[in-house]
Amino acid sequence: MNLDEEEFFKKPEKDTFEQEIGLDVIKDKVDEISKKIDLLEKKLSTEKPEKLEKKKFQIFLDTADVEEIRKAHSWGILDGVTTNPTLVSKTGRSFEECIHEIVSIVDGPISAEVVSTDAEGMIKEARELAKIHENIVVKIPITPDGLKAIKVLSQEGIKTNATLCFSANQAILATKAGATYVSPFIGRLDDIGHEGMQVVREIVQIFRNYDFKTKVIVASIRHPLHVIEAAKCGADMATVPFDVLEKMVKHALTDVGIKRFLEDWAKVPKG
Ligand code: G3P
Repeated sequence: MNLDEEEFFKKPEKDTFEQEIGLDVIKDKVDEISKKIDLLEKKLSTEKPEKLEKKKFQIFLDTADVEEIRKAHSWGILDGVTTNPTLVSKTGRSFEECIHEIVSIVDGPISAEVVSTDAEGMIKEARELAKIHENIVVKIPITPDGLKAIKVLSQEGIKTNATLCFSANQAILATKAGATYVSPFIGRLDDIGHEGMQVVREIVQIFRNYDFKTKVIVASIRHPLHVIEAAKCGADMATVPFDVLEKMVKHALTDVGIKRFLEDWAKVPKG
């Protein structure tokens, strides 16, 4: 063994390599990254599953007309139904009859509204409505009495839909009281020259900032663009009148396309 060879073999190979590429620095980096991965894994394992799930956009039908509900349900796209005293009055049937039939058609949240204006009366009505079916959601207007009622009912586990919401402030109070849903009425705001969808955007942002659990139902929808805007801004669901639902599915080019396909299919030799 000559001198050079001796020199080479007397140093452990590993040390030579470490010195050459600065392995200490790399080890430090690897340690740092491992610590970050550990922290991330811990965070993910403690995070609630629903937070990790992708949000779904739901379609509710805003009607008490059971024929409309049956049709929409048959399309396989209906997630729930919202009613109100005006919609019930349009059917010419009793409230109880309507609600019982609706819950038998749709397996999803069904909003039924109270007509009392004092907290005690609202709570009494809500308890009776909740007995009809587990899917019943009691619609309560956002007033001081409404908030009181929502608070009591949420503590009893009765689901509520804070309705006649026209501002982000009302939505904040509704979620503080424990409402399951809040319904900003965008069409009625548009009607008086305010941009209804702006209120929805504010509510969605505020609820996201604080991880409020109340779901946002965009209500008082007048046309299909309202539904697109509701979905774009991250609302949980839109409740649509049946005529809007029909407009959503309809497209002139789809009809023309079907006609042309059928005409061409007729020219294909059979057998
Ligand atoms: O769900 C609320 C909705 O029924 C109100 O709609 O058209 O009466 O403003 P509209």
